[in-house]
Amino acid sequence: MPSNLLLGVNVDHVVTLRQARYRQMLDSPNAAPSVLAAALLAEQAGAHSITIHLRADRRHIQDADVFLLRQEIKTKLNLEMGNTAEILAIALKAKPDFVCMVPENREEVTTEGGLDVAGQREALKATVQALEAHGTRVSMFIDPDPAQVRASAEIGASMIELHTGTFANHIGAERASEVARLQAAAALGKSLGLQINAGHGLTTSNLPDLWPVPHLAELNIGHHIVSRAIFIGLEAAVKEMLAVMATYPAK
Ligand code: PXP
Repeated sequence: MPSNLLLGVNVDHVVTLRQARYRQMLDSPNAAPSVLAAALLAEQAGAHSITIHLRADRRHIQDADVFLLRQEIKTKLNLEMGNTAEILAIALKAKPDFVCMVPENREEVTTEGGLDVAGQREALKATVQALEAHGTRVSMFIDPDPAQVRASAEIGASMIELHTGTFANHIGAERASEVARLQAAAALGKSLGLQINAGHGLTTSNLPDLWPVPHLAELNIGHHIVSRAIFIGLEAAVKEMLAVMATYPAK
């Protein structure tokens, strides 16, 4: 049976490159690369959704990018966001298909750990309810910790995205023990009726080591695809990732 694993392509770092030069001249005719062109190419290559993270510090994706992509892309839009009133208001206006709630810390280079859903139940529940009532399916980006999986189900999220950063950044016995935690979290989440997604640090090389994890529905992958795109082009980089994903054993 072919794998049904879906790919969300995170295009944040296409915008990182644009912002590095044009942060203060976004209306310059030279402002490039175009996030929309990148998203459309990713879709042409087979991506099932486009993922973007509108950070409070606006280091890459800008508000206008969110609304442009919302209007123009053909697949689904997945907005990653921290739990703040400012970003929630934008999400309610833009109506992405999916929201992934993430922790956000101004100093971090990238999202460093999972969201503490168990420790912030009430604040997160209000946001999840507001978004779900608006037709947006909400995911919680969490470490593979049973307490966080249970808390995500309890506050009404539809999905969890398991943080694969620890898996991706270790090898050998440490990676194997993280795979065991991911397996258990995926099984628990599935038993609680959650859709199981995963993301962070995934590459064409490390993905096969993730395959023992059951019930995966969608992967969100950014940095590796954008990095490969520099050498082989974005469509080829997306296709290369999809080819590896096709080897996920359907479960
Ligand atoms: N999923 C979430 C929730 C993230 O915050 C990120 C990083 O922006 C990713 C997936 C993608 O991670 P990477 O860029 O390492 O593929």
